[in-house]
Amino acid sequence: MSKLRVHGFSISVDGYGAGPDQSVERPLGVGGEQLHEWLVTTRTFKQIYGKDAGTTGIDDQRAAQGFENLGAWIMGRNMFGPVRGPWPDDTWKGWWGSNPVYHAPVFVLTHHARPSIAMEGGTTFHFVTDGIEAALERAREAAGGRDVRLGGGAATIRQYLRAGLIDELHFAIAPTLLGTGESLFADLDATKLGYAVTEHVQTNLATHVVLTKRKT
Ligand SMILES: NC(=O)c1ccc[n+]([C@@H]2O[C@H](COP(=O)([O-])OP(=O)(O)OC[C@H]3O[C@@H](n4cnc5c(N)ncnc54)[C@H](OP(=O)(O)O)[C@@H]3O)[C@@H](O)[C@H]2O)c1
Repeated sequence: MSKLRVHGFSISVDGYGAGPDQSVERPLGVGGEQLHEWLVTTRTFKQIYGKDAGTTGIDDQRAAQGFENLGAWIMGRNMFGPVRGPWPDDTWKGWWGSNPVYHAPVFVLTHHARPSIAMEGGTTFHFVTDGIEAALERAREAAGGRDVRLGGGAATIRQYLRAGLIDELHFAIAPTLLGTGESLFADLDATKLGYAVTEHVQTNLATHVVLTKRKT
């Protein structure tokens, strides 16, 4: 059965997946870039962006696992970009250039309809306006038996957690405080929702934690 997986979602010690005031200049909000230090140094991350070298070891293994056996992605509209409200035009096509890192169908949750965008390298952005379950159904169908990765951000992951639809959630706690921003676990009781910590390991740059949904 195809799983819905979160991987490499970086949070601060106080639980924020992005800082406040997201913008074109600060995609992760104020202070948010500190969250990804464990990731951007890895060989996996550097290879994705066509660069050499990078660290190997636990951070890199965790980054690489996030790309195994994937057939489709889901993300929230704020992860896709800084445009808010109705789309003024079709100019914005994501942060990732003409050949995005996904190489698969990506289902973007939004309240504002927009035609799909086919990019180079196999990525197509589809805009889903009828909710998280519809997005998951479409992603599963597109994934053809492989897993679906839920990229983020926090607001979108929280909805899927609340609905008990995430099978596995790997997050990396960066050794920093943000104080405010987009909280991953706000107003959620993950234990009541059936989740338990099944792995944890620490590196110099992050503590990696995996939550797994108990079988019912
Ligand atoms: N820490 C990490 O590892 C990580 C990973 C990914 C992204 N990020 C960062 O996280 C931030 C984005 O996260 P976020 O929590 O602000 O937002 P988000 O989850 O990316 O997007 C939220 C938006 O998506 C749309 N949406 C979500 N659920 C919907 C639903 N059920 N129906 C219709 N539309 C829905 C709504 O937009 P509209 O109503 O405007 O359409 C909503 O405001 C960015 O700064 C990004 O860079 C961090």
